[in-house]
Amino acid sequence: MLEKKYTEKTFTLEILYHIGDYENSIHFVFDHASKTCAIVDPAWEADLFIQRINDKGYKLTDIWLTHWHYDHTNAVDEIVEKTGAKITAGINEISYLQIEHEVQKVNNNDMLHLGKTSIKVINTPGHTKGGVCYLLDRHLIAGDTLFVYGAGNCSLPGANVVEFYHSMQKLKQINDDVMLHCGHDYGSKIETTMGKQKQGNAWLVIDTQDDFVKFVNDMSQGLITYPTDPLNKTEIQAML
Ligand SMILES: [Fe+2]
Repeated sequence: MLEKKYTEKTFTLEILYHIGDYENSIHFVFDHASKTCAIVDPAWEADLFIQRINDKGYKLTDIWLTHWHYDHTNAVDEIVEKTGAKITAGINEISYLQIEHEVQKVNNNDMLHLGKTSIKVINTPGHTKGGVCYLLDRHLIAGDTLFVYGAGNCSLPGANVVEFYHSMQKLKQINDDVMLHCGHDYGSKIETTMGKQKQGNAWLVIDTQDDFVKFVNDMSQGLITYPTDPLNKTEIQAML
């Protein structure tokens, strides 16, 4: 199993890649001081995740969801039943969630706290109605809002291409040195920064709403090939 680990001052971020039928990336935040853990978008392998956290001597207290899609949430109820962890999701995503347990709602710029680690919520609708990203120091956990040189589609209920465009403009404000962590490993590489994505990710490079809408719609109709490598403005214009 492919995994990566980033150790910061107050927390360690661990990522398991290629989990389950849709090859999801599962993110764990371990707060050093409190020995508590939050897991982002747990799906497919509840027992594996719980065991992993217990083996490190940490307690799973929180489940943070980026969005409602089944491949990001199908282990949530089982994990809550086994650990009592608290679920958090974006306020506009609640009505879409197919989860039995109670969910704490968060909104744009809300701060979450896991021990001594602080996490900022950023509303990034578009792929879904109420999707959010979680920003920790120099790490952005983006779910399916951004992939490495790509992004999620706008095809399922609640999706909206214009809202997605505005979310991208918001994500461009994030510092260049912040590492991007995605819900799936669909690009040509796994490790990237927001700086690199701002230069070569078509969803961020396109800077007008009309071009963005055309790009996303053309892609969903199969008129544009989904990119896995960087594209510059000239290359993108040639595709439109
Ligand atoms: Fe998704």
